[in-house]
Amino acid sequence: MSAHKIIIAIDGYSSCGKSTLAQQMAKKLGYSYIDSGAMYRAITLYFIRNNIDLKNHDEILVALGNIHLTFEVDEMTGTSEMHLNDENVERQIREMLVADKVSDVAAIKEVRSFAVAQQKRMGKKKGIVMDGRDIGTTVFPDAELKIFLTADPAVRVQRRYEELFKTDPHISLEEVRHNLEIRDYIDTSRAESPLRKADDAIVLDNTNLTREEQLDIALEWVADRATNKSLIPDPSPKGKGGIA
Ligand code: DC
Repeated sequence: MSAHKIIIAIDGYSSCGKSTLAQQMAKKLGYSYIDSGAMYRAITLYFIRNNIDLKNHDEILVALGNIHLTFEVDEMTGTSEMHLNDENVERQIREMLVADKVSDVAAIKEVRSFAVAQQKRMGKKKGIVMDGRDIGTTVFPDAELKIFLTADPAVRVQRRYEELFKTDPHISLEEVRHNLEIRDYIDTSRAESPLRKADDAIVLDNTNLTREEQLDIALEWVADRATNKSLIPDPSPKGKGGIA
């Protein structure tokens, strides 16, 4: 579809479906997919396991020096999975223990510099879809396509609840809502590259869209950007997005 490979940055609040959209797009386009949140989660897991004091910057720097992060594609599922020092931690990083701490860890300056440097390297060859909170603003400010994904908060809570329930049937909707509210607050109010929409990002509200519908919309934008045409916002009353 695309005339040349581009960088696609997808940002938004927790549980908006960023990784679903990013994975769909990467598969369709033959691009690589990088879940930048998984990197912050793996760092958090390492900090928890090693009792790192989040206020001790020397301790944090030493810990970061001992962390090696890689994404490995699972042959069976075709999905890219997070490895921390050669251990597959894809399951552990999705647990509440990590979710409860990850925003605090991701707010630390040294942690962000460490993760962002790796993320920038991953984009050198283009042909990449990366999702997170600061991809369009800090990691790839020159990305050819920036999408800011949004969804109704109640829908986000329900989606995350259903996802977590698969591995933890004791989880409550209230617990999930509380965790999302706190993470939204920390992610948007922290001093280091807080979550915000890049000025040139396109808003895509997927509250009432199926996965297929949101993919079709995003792929139209890719085709537009990859052939260097100007992007025309969709002013339709269907609310399928447009330049905010
Ligand atoms: O996308 P996620 O829920 O897996 O992200 C986990 C946390 O990491 C989230 O609370 C915010 C943080 N994060 C970040 O600060 N910057 C990114 N680029 C990605 C995630």
